[in-house]
Amino acid sequence: MRILIIGSGGREHALAWKLRQRADKPELFIAPGNGGTALEGENVPVPDGDIPALMRCIREKAVDFVIPGPELSLVRGIVDACREAGVPCFGPERKAAMLEGSKAFAKEIMREAGVPTADFRVFDDHDAAARYVRERNRPLVIKADGLAAGKGVVVAEDAATALNALRGMMIDGIFGPAGETVLIEELLTGEEVSFLAFCQGEAVVPLPSAQDHKAVFDGDAGPNTGGMGAYSPAPLLSEDRHEDMARRVIRPVLRALRKRGCPFSGVLYAGLMMTGDGPKVLEFNTRFGDPECQPLLMRLEDDLLDVMLACARGRLEERPLRFTPQSSLCVVLAARGYPGGYPSGMIINGIDRAEESLPGMVKVFQAGTRLAEGSLLASGGRVLGVTALGADLGEARHNAYAAMEHIRMEHGHFRRDIGARGLR
Ligand code: AMP
Ligand code: GLY
Repeated sequence: MRILIIGSGGREHALAWKLRQRADKPELFIAPGNGGTALEGENVPVPDGDIPALMRCIREKAVDFVIPGPELSLVRGIVDACREAGVPCFGPERKAAMLEGSKAFAKEIMREAGVPTADFRVFDDHDAAARYVRERNRPLVIKADGLAAGKGVVVAEDAATALNALRGMMIDGIFGPAGETVLIEELLTGEEVSFLAFCQGEAVVPLPSAQDHKAVFDGDAGPNTGGMGAYSPAPLLSEDRHEDMARRVIRPVLRALRKRGCPFSGVLYAGLMMTGDGPKVLEFNTRFGDPECQPLLMRLEDDLLDVMLACARGRLEERPLRFTPQSSLCVVLAARGYPGGYPSGMIINGIDRAEESLPGMVKVFQAGTRLAEGSLLASGGRVLGVTALGADLGEARHNAYAAMEHIRMEHGHFRRDIGARGLR
């Protein structure tokens, strides 16, 4: 089988690594990939989101199955284009991907489905939005409606911050059309947890819970990033609550989408806030999370390709997937300065030593890396993620940080407290 994976992050390296563990060794192409995916298959220089170029690549390489990692290609209709071309593709069609592509649409669906979420208002007029902020005069969350590469959410403790965010999005247009419409939400407090499930039609196969660490510095200080580390399972959402979560959050959304004529297929990711009033949905993603995917796939003992193909072919069965009871934890090594400006081109050493330090228990998933004349160089904000297994969360954490000691890169930065909240 010839498979095209779209994307270039740690998630895509983890997907490629997992698929290559099959006995039949599928042939992999990764668009555009990174230094790590180059070890698992052939990188092809086509960017995520360029649907015509991706479709050309699918034809030229005679691809049998397509797996988009990030959201951009999904929201631009890669699944629809593949369906027309007769090639199965994992993920939702464009209309259902709007659950991630438009926060206003996601809220509409949640309201219709009776899924608990923060109170909100939608505005497409700046002055009306600003008036609302002044009237409310309390902490609020300002969100660009469309895709903004993870930067479109501002948690505003005071009116000045909220008004600033509105100006940036609606007048200065910092996110382009994605910020022409904004949501203003009540601020929720509590712990966050990610709940993901393979879904197709109304069939749901939950994955174990995971927790992401979005802020760049220890103690959740500093600006939000794509994710500085993650672990699974998250004690905050134990396995005995998965069916309840599926019943309260996932299934109603699947039904509401189906009623709209856009049935869902793929991974549905609910970002939850565990509030005093119970779990509330902060956002939906229509794909695997990065870095949550890395510890999840490290724990998966079942076959990944089978379940992905079942989703794409409309035949997902509600049988539980097998995961090791061990915990897994991923620590992301970033370039200092990320998510702002950061240096690149630094030489990376020690990945083999890190993996050999605990054979079978540690895997380094590469993200912003590239190979140049035999050296591995940093080429992005999030450079790699050291992912380890352990008997429990404490041991997985110990193993990941011990393995990180072997990695050498100038101007590197990683959080020292990944998993700390789960241990408390
Ligand atoms: P989102 O992309 O909607 O998940 O937002 C990104 C991050 O912003 C979340 O992971 C939360 O940390 C924070 N956030 C979003 N919505 C809210 C809210 N209503 N209350 C508090 N924090 C929020
Ligand atoms: N880790 C959060 C995300 O992938 O959106």
